[in-house]
Amino acid sequence: MRTPTLFTTAIGTLALAASVGAHAQASGPIKVGLMLPATGTFAALGVAIENGFKLYVQEQGGKLAGRDIQYFKVDDESDPSKGTDNVNKLIKRDNVDVIVGTVHSGVALAMAKAAKDSNTLLIVPNAGAGDITGPMCGPNIVRSSFSNWQPGYATGVIAAQKGHKRAMTITWNYAAGNETVKGFTEAFEKGGGKVMKDLNLPFPGVEFQALLTEIAAQKPDVVFAFFAGGGAVKFVKDYAAAGLMKTVPLMGSGFLTDGTLEAQGEAAQGLITALHYADNLDTPRNNAFRKNYAIAYKANADVYAVQGYDAAQIFAAGLNAVKGDLAKRDALTAAMRKVTVDSPRGKFTLSAAGNPVQDMYIREAKGKDNEFRGVAVKALADPGRGCKL
Ligand code: BEZ
Repeated sequence: MRTPTLFTTAIGTLALAASVGAHAQASGPIKVGLMLPATGTFAALGVAIENGFKLYVQEQGGKLAGRDIQYFKVDDESDPSKGTDNVNKLIKRDNVDVIVGTVHSGVALAMAKAAKDSNTLLIVPNAGAGDITGPMCGPNIVRSSFSNWQPGYATGVIAAQKGHKRAMTITWNYAAGNETVKGFTEAFEKGGGKVMKDLNLPFPGVEFQALLTEIAAQKPDVVFAFFAGGGAVKFVKDYAAAGLMKTVPLMGSGFLTDGTLEAQGEAAQGLITALHYADNLDTPRNNAFRKNYAIAYKANADVYAVQGYDAAQIFAAGLNAVKGDLAKRDALTAAMRKVTVDSPRGKFTLSAAGNPVQDMYIREAKGKDNEFRGVAVKALADPGRGCKL
């Protein structure tokens, strides 16, 4: 038998590295690239996701599968035009093993393309763009959050159940807003309602006055809104200030009131939304999570913190299956995709396309919490249209 020369061994090593995206190291710290917004309307969402991810790692003694974790960070500014350059800082400059990001659907689409092209592992801890777990799906991409369609659809179900017949929708004109409205419309019209008009403004605009005047003039039975972060705070306050809360009920996917209630104050009280998390879910898992989060960060956990925490749980499931050996890429991604995540939101699994199959809750804004009021849809799965694996 021929013993391998230094040259053939080196070639073999290079081929293996190429097959796993040229990142994998068998020892030393695992390099985690956090690409999240640190500035702009979604800044607080990025902080909560990072906190949640790091909390899970801390709970494991600061290591995953026995290996130290080294973080690399990029502020994506929720700017899709900078998405490719920003993600390549993590892929090409920092040579990370996994990317966790991001919040904004448009930025995440650029990240998914770069992750596919370079075969880098990507865990999406928020952005719901349907294409990521649709036509762009791949073994190296999973999501710990939701598809935009899911909370939109769940809110449409409850709006129709409330007997509303004529709706108007309002959102930012980009993938998340448009896909969430599509989900709402599908369920609302299936339930016997009709969407009369879709209103929108460019992301991250907050000049709502002209659109609120149009709502007041049309007097629909209900308004469905998708906004999040700083934009959601301003929208809910403007809606209340326009005197519309009493005349045209406002509903939204839960991002309208998640992580925002303190800033929204009185204006948001009583708002009904649908989402895959409610603050007061009274389970040992959620209670422990909220307690640990509050101790670590002196802040209340929200849905974004949960999604960051669960991104770490999904990654840990993959790493544990291969004992921390990132070179065993196929076994790692298979284990990540077949995990049952013991989440603060309740247990969930991932669809074949890599998107959570999860219960969608009805919530009511009460004080600083989005309180559980029932299940809107059980085990809701995104249709995963166009995903071929
Ligand atoms: C998105 O762009 O996908 C998104 C942003 C904030 C909250 C929810 C979704």
